[in-house]
Amino acid sequence: MKDKQTVSKNTPLDHPVLESIKNRWSPRVFANTPICEPDAKKILEAGRWAPSASNIQPWRIIWGIKGSATYDRIFNCLDEFNQSWAGNSQMLWINAFKKTMKTNDKENFHAHHDLGLFMGNVIHQANSMDIAVHQMAGVQFKKAHKEFHFTDDYHVTTAVAFGYFGGDPDVLPEDLKRQELNEMRERKSQEEFAFNGNFKN
Ligand SMILES: Cc1cc2nc3c(=O)[nH]c(=O)nc-3n(C[C@H](O)[C@H](O)[C@H](O)COP(=O)(O)O)c2cc1C
Repeated sequence: MKDKQTVSKNTPLDHPVLESIKNRWSPRVFANTPICEPDAKKILEAGRWAPSASNIQPWRIIWGIKGSATYDRIFNCLDEFNQSWAGNSQMLWINAFKKTMKTNDKENFHAHHDLGLFMGNVIHQANSMDIAVHQMAGVQFKKAHKEFHFTDDYHVTTAVAFGYFGGDPDVLPEDLKRQELNEMRERKSQEEFAFNGNFKN
């Protein structure tokens, strides 16, 4: 029998960080182990306790576990590229946020930021449970908005695939398999985005 290909990633740090930050990455294959409802609730709970501007908590999540009608409905709202791999996941989400403030129609300028913080909590909770997270911008947004009955003051932003680490890269199309097995991870240097003084372009 052929050995299963294992994936290990190299994260070249310039400064030491938490192991959980260093070890996180976004696979496109996942183990066959199901994600159960208590797993899903734990991950959502981590997001629930994220900070948000004026504690508005503008995030809204549609979640579906593999085998459910909701999972299939979310899958059908992904774009073609993400549909080529996201069916390997054991749970799918559609993420949205409320565009307006609590008490009036004024735009909540910070809602996008808050959903990002929610997802920050989510990825670290999930990773601590050995559950990998792969976020997706490639969503048929209008379709998802309609499919899940969002009203006009909600903006659908992203989808998310979850599954336990340890999937078999052989199930991926050749180009995605190459990316999956590529050990090297890359980031901009701190000098490109952090300024101890004026912004430099
Ligand atoms: C908001 C967001 C949208 C993304 N959209 C997609 C996507 O549509 N399809 C995909 O395969 N990966 C997507 N990614 C994954 C990124 O490409 C990935 O996080 C990035 O290359 C860094 O890799 P790492 O997460 O393994 O460190 C997205 C990530 C984020 C945060």
